[in-house]
Amino acid sequence: MHKALVIFLAAYFTVNLGVADWHYPNELPNGVLSDDEDWGGMCSSGKRQSPVDLAKDAAIKGEFPLFDFESYKSVMKNPLIVNNGHSIQISSVPGPIYISGGGLNSVYIFDQMHFHWSSEHTIDHKRFALELHIVHHDKRYDTLSRAAQEKNGIAVVGILYKITTIPNPFIEKLLENSKNIFDAAGKNVTFQDKLVLYDLLPRNKQRYFRYEGSLTTPSCGEAVIWTVFEDAIGITIEQLERFKSVHDDSGHELTHNYRHIQPLNSRALIYVEGEYNPNSANSFKSFSASILIISVIFAFIGMKI
Ligand SMILES: *[C@@H]1O[C@H](CO)[C@@H](O)[C@H](O)[C@H]1NC(C)=O
Ligand SMILES: [Zn+2]
Repeated sequence: MHKALVIFLAAYFTVNLGVADWHYPNELPNGVLSDDEDWGGMCSSGKRQSPVDLAKDAAIKGEFPLFDFESYKSVMKNPLIVNNGHSIQISSVPGPIYISGGGLNSVYIFDQMHFHWSSEHTIDHKRFALELHIVHHDKRYDTLSRAAQEKNGIAVVGILYKITTIPNPFIEKLLENSKNIFDAAGKNVTFQDKLVLYDLLPRNKQRYFRYEGSLTTPSCGEAVIWTVFEDAIGITIEQLERFKSVHDDSGHELTHNYRHIQPLNSRALIYVEGEYNPNSANSFKSFSASILIISVIFAFIGMKI
């Protein structure tokens, strides 16, 4: 009994240390990451890992029903911003914010969102300035960590940011609200403004990449159904630079927190464009019927003339 407890505790602390102790590899002076993450476990052995390059040449065409973002319009309850040593993360008390539709097979409840600088996903090998991950879990599971054990248990929506000359008002609010927690991992602060997820979405919500992948941080669980919108949102270079003053848990500036591109292997990468219309076969029939009627009318007019 005693021996079993010791083994259990040893295993528990080993696992926990393993997860807590990871870090991003250094960036070389030329801006390229120095080497692989070497995070072990599923991060090293998995075959369905994220992020991937969203290559249009490799993608197959998809059409899905529209997303239902209705609940995204409600104001988030007590949003808390945390410097977790790997990113700036915003969470809220589990509330009525969820996403469905868009080809997802369930309803996914909002848990938290966080940023990566630079972007983790690339589009045709082009990297973006920043990437927001909005993390949800399948409502059939009680918690995010429980859902992380199931294929498609987690749905992450990725939003890319590109550099423009116009400051992004949401990013500005976030940076202003959280600047006092940047200097040490573990600090948190309440977001002081109204936070509405819908305002963070890009204008075009019908063009996105869809694939089945993983969490991009240890334990890299292969539980994520990914949606990455193609339409990128603008931020200024000055706003981007401010993220880099976030300090990690060893007290260093977190100059970047993105993972290397992972191989797609045999997975389908879907490029979704437009809305699936189950009646399109019928529409074609009615279109043909209209043509017929118009032809008849023209024939009739022709006859009169
Ligand atoms: C937020 O910070 C306070 C200390 O300032 C700490 O007691 C609390 O546990 C933190 N909450 C979270 C969720 O990190
Ligand atoms: Zn992420």
